[in-house]
Amino acid sequence: MAQEVRGVIAPGKDEPVRIETIVVPDPGPGEAVVRVQACGVCHTDLHYKQGGISDDYPFLLGHEAAGVVESVGQGVDDVAPGDFVILNWRAVCGTCRACLRGRPWYCFDTHNAKQRMTLAATGQELSPALGIGAFAEKTLVAAGQCTKVDPAVAPQVAGLLGCGVMAGIGAAINTGNVGRGDSVAVIGCGGVGDAAVAGSRLAGAAKIIAVDIDDRKLETARSMGATHTVNSRESDPVEAIRELTGGFGADVVIEAVGRPETYRQAFYARDLAGTVVLVGVPTPEMRLELPLLDVFGRGGSLKSSWYGDCLPSRDFPMLIDLHLQGRLDLSKFVTETIALDQVEQAFERMHGGDVLRSVVVL
Ligand code: APR
Ligand code: ZN
Ligand code: ZN
Repeated sequence: MAQEVRGVIAPGKDEPVRIETIVVPDPGPGEAVVRVQACGVCHTDLHYKQGGISDDYPFLLGHEAAGVVESVGQGVDDVAPGDFVILNWRAVCGTCRACLRGRPWYCFDTHNAKQRMTLAATGQELSPALGIGAFAEKTLVAAGQCTKVDPAVAPQVAGLLGCGVMAGIGAAINTGNVGRGDSVAVIGCGGVGDAAVAGSRLAGAAKIIAVDIDDRKLETARSMGATHTVNSRESDPVEAIRELTGGFGADVVIEAVGRPETYRQAFYARDLAGTVVLVGVPTPEMRLELPLLDVFGRGGSLKSSWYGDCLPSRDFPMLIDLHLQGRLDLSKFVTETIALDQVEQAFERMHGGDVLRSVVVL
């Protein structure tokens, strides 16, 4: 039986979000209905609201979520009702070229649930943010978007792995392949950059240099594991990183801002043959000009990191276990917990600079 629940809708470009009654159908083959327990507020939700991603209004926002599987459709055996799961926005297909070549994080045939949730008032079809739509009491997803983890973890902490925090940790441990003894520089210490700092510590980096333009962010980065901090408003970060690494540059530089000037800093702040990991997302009109001789002459690699090159079934349970063992403190990323009707205010607070994550708890 289809159910009616409350959800946060972005009704049109730049319009404030509002709570509406939405209809969640029964799960079809390969699908699951999840009772959402927590969902973080991410910049991407704001971009949906503002029209930066698609014009497919109305959107059902929210995509960094954890909850309990309520029911599953035909042919679902990886998860069952009662399972505690983290949702992901890339259910890998297992059969495309990327999957078959052992790089499922590049899967180009992601099997997210079809858009079958509707607005109760008008019957209009909803576009769930990133194929999830979890600012709602319940949501319909593909079973492959659900990853079972240890239910001992608090839902507001677990949900974080659904997007930004996984992107940052994965940028360090998966894309950057940070290893024991490495020097790492992280440019931009918001939620994603701080997660890259935490991931680098987890991987055994010897030096972790945090760069930001805001001293408060640098302080937080230190609590996440940064060993050195550089305010790039006060000193040239490339020079500072070189100085802190014996004149060489860092083995791995992680860019977590998404702007041309920080891409450039990342490029020059790495050691010869070092790795640059780009996890900050630029806008379509941004350009970067570099002397080709520098691109050629410096060796190493430039990699972009998409969702931290994560494999949810491999990475989510592992990171939750490390958190529960006290070896990775994910709770530090939760600045505040809020109710479903406070998402608009959480968007406003994002610009203030003192929130890593606001998390809706249901
Ligand atoms: N140099 C250094 N740091 C900067 C600069 C700069 N020129 N400009 C901004 N910053 C810092 C901000 O002070 C802030 O601490 O970058 C950080 C950005 O953090 P958030 O706005 O909280 O964004 P976050 O959620 O961490 O995402 C960062 O990663 O996945 C992408 O789309 C995401 O592009 C975004 C980036
Ligand atoms: Zn695939
Ligand atoms: Zn997100």
